[in-house]
Amino acid sequence: LDEEERKITVIAHPNIALIKYWGKASEAEMIPLNDSISLAVNYFHAKTTLIARKVEKGEEIGDTVSINGKDVGLNSRFHRVFKSVRDKLDCQWSFTVSSSTNFPVAAGLASSAAGFAAIAFALGKTFDLPEHDIVRLARYGSGSASRSVLSGLVQWKKGNDKTESHVVSHFSADHWPELRLVIIVVKDEEKALSSKEGMERTAKTSELLQDRIRRNQERINLIISAFSSHDFPSLAELIMRDSNEMHAVCLDSYPPIQYLNATSWSIINFVHSFNKESVRAAYTFDAGPNACIFTLKEHVNELYDRVTSTFSKGKEVKDVYISELGQGPQID
Ligand code: PMV
Repeated sequence: LDEEERKITVIAHPNIALIKYWGKASEAEMIPLNDSISLAVNYFHAKTTLIARKVEKGEEIGDTVSINGKDVGLNSRFHRVFKSVRDKLDCQWSFTVSSSTNFPVAAGLASSAAGFAAIAFALGKTFDLPEHDIVRLARYGSGSASRSVLSGLVQWKKGNDKTESHVVSHFSADHWPELRLVIIVVKDEEKALSSKEGMERTAKTSELLQDRIRRNQERINLIISAFSSHDFPSLAELIMRDSNEMHAVCLDSYPPIQYLNATSWSIINFVHSFNKESVRAAYTFDAGPNACIFTLKEHVNELYDRVTSTFSKGKEVKDVYISELGQGPQID
């Protein structure tokens, strides 16, 4: 490594929460109101190159970020991540980040989780930071990104302050290698209300949210135990109930927040009818209409065929993907 300039390329994956993060106790430190737990989506990734350059005293710091070849304006999240690293180092560095994704960034497929996990991991490896700092940097970019720093079944423990809020991996991905995800892109446009604004409105106005928070620890523990014993029907019900509940607190916000559309509802009904004989699939929706359906390897082809014959690609839905689960970031 040249002392004046350091370069690294890393790959990180988005993650899908089985129990979702919705609401913040602190915006400044990105402390959530509840624990969340997720698996990484192996098929999708952000590939990010970071060049860190030493800046002489008095020289201007010119950070830049490009995503899929386009320069993006540095919003407060990027500033917070870069400032936090600079505060830890004893001399000044400027950062050039270029990131490319193998999936559409505006599609609501947790691209910010993959992107910020990649940036945090790259910064961490470049400056030899401990895991706790890498996780915090990812969290400063996007709360859910902190879960993409580890592999396997990852829990974000909310903690009460910035030192306590942390992630742990309960199982590596090979604990349950048969798990699969079918991802249905319903709409590939930017969401109408960002998760930040949505969470703020819910935290301020939803009374149901307190009920959701009260159940959180129990649900997390049930997810861990279903995952531990490969109990798919129990895992599936917990995943679907949590997604339904998150969207219920969105509707309970005032004015109400609607992320699901008519196609999302058709997918919900489709999955319940697919599960009529036995529970083989579990949908979950983030802050948008796209569906992620967990299933097992033995059912994935039938599920994919039935999804694509019920919702034609390019018409009702934009695209359908299949993925394995659980990989953490790697240096490329
Ligand atoms: O990390 P953010 O700020 O984009 O929030 C993510 C929120 C959900 O995707 C809806 C839930 C989750 O836990 O990933």
